[in-house]
Amino acid sequence: MKALAANFHRGRRLRTSEAVRDLVRETAPLLREDLIMPYFVVEANDPNVRTSVPSMPGIYQLGLAALEQQVARYYDLGLKAVLLFGVPQSKDELATQAYARDGIVQRAVRRIKKRCPDLIVICDVCLCEYMSHGHCGLLDAQGDVQNDATLPLLTKVAVSHAQAGADMVAPSDMMDGRIQAIRQGLDVAGYLSLPIVSYAVKYASAYYGPFRDAAESAPAHGNRKSYQMDPGNAREALLEAKADLDEGCDALIVKPAGPYSDILWRVKEACNVPVWAYQVSGEYSLIRAAGLNGWICEEQVILESLQSLKRAGAATIISYFTEYLLEHKLVR
Ligand code: PBG
Ligand code: ZN
Repeated sequence: MKALAANFHRGRRLRTSEAVRDLVRETAPLLREDLIMPYFVVEANDPNVRTSVPSMPGIYQLGLAALEQQVARYYDLGLKAVLLFGVPQSKDELATQAYARDGIVQRAVRRIKKRCPDLIVICDVCLCEYMSHGHCGLLDAQGDVQNDATLPLLTKVAVSHAQAGADMVAPSDMMDGRIQAIRQGLDVAGYLSLPIVSYAVKYASAYYGPFRDAAESAPAHGNRKSYQMDPGNAREALLEAKADLDEGCDALIVKPAGPYSDILWRVKEACNVPVWAYQVSGEYSLIRAAGLNGWICEEQVILESLQSLKRAGAATIISYFTEYLLEHKLVR
C-alpha cells in the first residue's frame, strides 16, 4: 500500500540549491544606483588632509583635495550619489558658514561637480555643524531652539547649495515648516526643478553618536529631543511624512534605518514617493566593531543589513558601507 502523502508545508522544496533560492528570492539584489555614500569635508589649511574618525573606523574627515580624489576614485568604481556634510573652521551663533558662498560644502560641491559631472551630489541642510552651540536651529535667550526664526537661515543654506551646483538638498534639522520655506526660497531663486529630499522621519537617536564625532556637531548643552522624534512613536511618523509632502518635498528619508524598519515599511505603504533609508553612523560602527573583532562575518552582516532595508521598502539607502561594497564588487 502506498504511504499517504504528508500534508504539511514543505518550504524546503524551494531552498534546495543556490540556483533555486536565487530564482524565488522576493527582494532584488542591491544595485549601485540604490546607494548613497556620505562624506565629511573639512575646512583645513591642508586640502589633502585625511583625519580618521576614531568611532567610525574606515571613515575620514577629508580636505577638499582629498575629497575630490576619493570621490573620483569611487566614481570610477560605480559610485552614483554622495551626501555631503561640512566641518567648518569657524562656528558662530548664526551658522554663517553654513550658507557662505565660499563655505566648505559649497566649495566641495563645485569641485566634485566639475570633476564628476554625472555624479549626484546631495547636500545635507542643517545648522548644527556650523553653530557654536551645536544645535540645529537658532537659540533664544533661554537656550531653546527657535522654530520660525530658524526657517530663513535654512532657506539660505539650501539656496547656497543650489547655487554651488548641488543636484538635491536634504534638510535634516526637523524644524516645522522648513520644507515650505525651502521650497519657496528655491523657487524664487529659480531652482524650480531642484528636488528636496526631506529627513521627514528623524528620531532623537543615540545611534547618531559617532556622526557627531565625525561632523563635530554634538550639542554643547541639552539634547535634540525638542525637535527630533520620540523613538516610541510610530503613527507620528506618518504625520511628519504627510506634512512634508504637503509642503512640497519630493522624497522622504527615515532615520535611523535598521532599528526603525517597521517605520520604513509604514511610511512606504502610506506615501507614494520614494522612501530612503539612512543607515546611520551608530549602525555602521556596531557592525564594524564586531567585524574588526572577528565576532561576525562582517561582509555578510553588511549585505544582510542592507537587504533587510530593501525588504522593508527602502528605494535608496544612504550607507557608510557604500565604498566598501563598490570596492569589493558586492553590488551590480
Ligand atoms: C544633522 C544630521 C545628523 C545626522 C545626519 N544629519 C546628526 C544629528 O541630528 O545629530 C546623523 C547621521 C548619522 O548618524 O550617520 N542634523
Ligand atoms: Zn543638525
